[in-house]
Amino acid sequence: MRSINMLDLKAEYDLFRDDIREAVDQVLESQYFIGGPAIADFEAAMRSRIGASEAVAVSSGTDALLCSLMALGVGPGDEVVLPAFTFFATGGVVARLGATPVFVDVDERTFNLDPACVASALSDRTKAVIVVHLFGQCADMVALREVVGDRKVALVEDACQAIDATDHGEAAGTLGDVACFSFYPTKNLGGFGEGGMITTNDEKLGAFARQLCRHGQSDRYFHEHVGGNFRLDTMKAAILKVKLAKLSEFTDRRRKNAASYDRLLAGSPVTTPLVRDGCKHVYHQYTITCDRRDDLVAFLRDRGVGAGVYYPLGLHRQPCFAGKGGGGSLPVTDRLCERVVSLPCHPMLADDDIAYVAGAIHEFFGTSMSVDATGKAGAKARA
Ligand SMILES: Cc1ncc(COP(=O)(O)O)c(C=O)c1O
Repeated sequence: MRSINMLDLKAEYDLFRDDIREAVDQVLESQYFIGGPAIADFEAAMRSRIGASEAVAVSSGTDALLCSLMALGVGPGDEVVLPAFTFFATGGVVARLGATPVFVDVDERTFNLDPACVASALSDRTKAVIVVHLFGQCADMVALREVVGDRKVALVEDACQAIDATDHGEAAGTLGDVACFSFYPTKNLGGFGEGGMITTNDEKLGAFARQLCRHGQSDRYFHEHVGGNFRLDTMKAAILKVKLAKLSEFTDRRRKNAASYDRLLAGSPVTTPLVRDGCKHVYHQYTITCDRRDDLVAFLRDRGVGAGVYYPLGLHRQPCFAGKGGGGSLPVTDRLCERVVSLPCHPMLADDDIAYVAGAIHEFFGTSMSVDATGKAGAKARA
């Protein structure tokens, strides 16, 4: 039986092995393990890639979010609005700073913040809105800016899943006041360990975030602020810089895989991802919605296909937020948590892997893939 997983990191590594070893060797020879030229090089590469004037390498996507909120002065008494349908870190950082997370609902088709829900959640205490570009597609920042209007409310992009995504040509990471990326190994730009980046076009904010990453020190052993140790290791930066060279190619492969799924799943009862007009989706996840989700996941696993459920429980229902911003019902998030399933979409997949997965989905629902969809006359790409 075939085995088609959500990732194939070993196959990816095979493409970079020599260059990565050389980059690691250079770091070892330099004996710069914190800071140094490899960090500066990677930050410069990210600045030009994203088109932001400031890029600060940090220890993880979570720390990018934490440090960004610290730089914005978020603290006790403040509220931060964010989607309930996201990875835990987006809300966890708000609570860690003593602020109140205000969880709101998302759009059922794009999985991203619903601007109308944000509008009704804003209050005099709102300090920021964290806008997650979930699964690799930009949220509607234009509508969100309109909703926020003249209020002094920062828009923080959680672009952890959206490196390379654009909206009308503008890159994720430049659409808000400050943005956060993750280089967790499974991300589209996956590192060798934890890692992250803050980008902004606000020079002052970028400099403050950089200071906070080094325990808030203004000069060696002089601390103007209480920050943390949020630095990215030099070795990881050197590796990420090597991997960045193939990011466009990997993004294209993800997008090609997604287009194949869109075509091959036509005629099945699943709902495929909606791409907003003008958006370049980078498919960190290719996420469909359907009835009998858990049975489908079990069926796919039986056929050697790894499928993921991101996410099975909204943040508003997480026990740790009970009485601390959590509670209530957010109908779209609640429904999505029961209906979403993400299919393998990584860049190392072959065309017939995609056909195999789509065929298995048709088989589960008792539908069949159209001849047009397979592109091969007479073929029925059944599992
Ligand atoms: C939407 C989102 N936000 C934040 C994070 C946190 O990033 P990290 O795992 O690098 O801390 C992730 C990573 O999983 C994420 O997907």
